[in-house]
Amino acid sequence: MAASCDGDRWFQLYIVERQAAWDMIRRALETGYSTLVVTVDVAVNGLRERDIRNGFGMPLRYTPRILLDGALHPHWTLNLLRHGMPQLANFVTARSRDAHSQAALLKRQMDASFDWDALRQIRDLWPRRLLVKGLLNPQDASRAIALGADGVIVSNHGGRQLDSAPSPMTVLDAMVAAAKGAPVLVDSGFRRGADVVKALAMGASAILIGRPLLYGMAAAGGDGVDAVIAILRDEVDRTLAQIGCPEIGLLSRDFIMPAAPI
Ligand SMILES: Cc1cc2nc3c(=O)[nH]c(=O)nc-3n(C[C@H](O)[C@H](O)[C@H](O)COP(=O)(O)O)c2cc1C
Repeated sequence: MAASCDGDRWFQLYIVERQAAWDMIRRALETGYSTLVVTVDVAVNGLRERDIRNGFGMPLRYTPRILLDGALHPHWTLNLLRHGMPQLANFVTARSRDAHSQAALLKRQMDASFDWDALRQIRDLWPRRLLVKGLLNPQDASRAIALGADGVIVSNHGGRQLDSAPSPMTVLDAMVAAAKGAPVLVDSGFRRGADVVKALAMGASAILIGRPLLYGMAAAGGDGVDAVIAILRDEVDRTLAQIGCPEIGLLSRDFIMPAAPI
């Protein structure tokens, strides 16, 4: 991955096994990644009932439904036949060369004992930019930054973890205040340029996009991803023009009208 990209590279880390995680941090350092994103909202996997219902799992099982789907999407199937089953590259080791054993590794529960001390150890190992992803509580944001994180990512994991977790937009104000000027990025459910504009006006430093890019990728590969970015960019521009904000850097709370109490 590092060799195939000459842009600014960020590495997202899950702690499945401490030693393996520390090794990955070292690899990310050696290969020139600028930013380490430590995701902390998957102490255990959410119960994704839709995945269960659709028989979705890793590695892919060839059920009649999947085979029919493959027949209806020949381009995708040809690609799979040509390039083989996608590998989980970071889990490719001498012990896990095939997708089956990599999936088994990934399926193992996360290290639910991960705590503030472990985050401090990561801070000691990683001298570059460190972001903590998956926080929704302002006290956690303050604590992460006091401990040396360079910023936080407010996220409920796209609503895929705890069903009753708050929407990041409802806690964004408090998170920005708690971060005391440190960058606060946000994701989960951003689908329109206007959503992006609202979060920036509320003080977010950046908005991260998850599934829309995956939908673009699934529909049309790299061109699909470019198309999604172009749509969002156009919507952001239009929204800025419609609210009378000449440039994105001038967005502020002055452009926000609080919702009337229900
Ligand atoms: C298929 C899928 C895989 C994901 N894998 C990870 C992951 O490995 N690490 C992580 O921090 N977040 C992961 N996420 C969560 C995203 O990083 C992000 O928080 C979320 O998708 C944002 O919401 P959105 O999809 O509504 O934009 C994943 C999300 C999806 C949909």
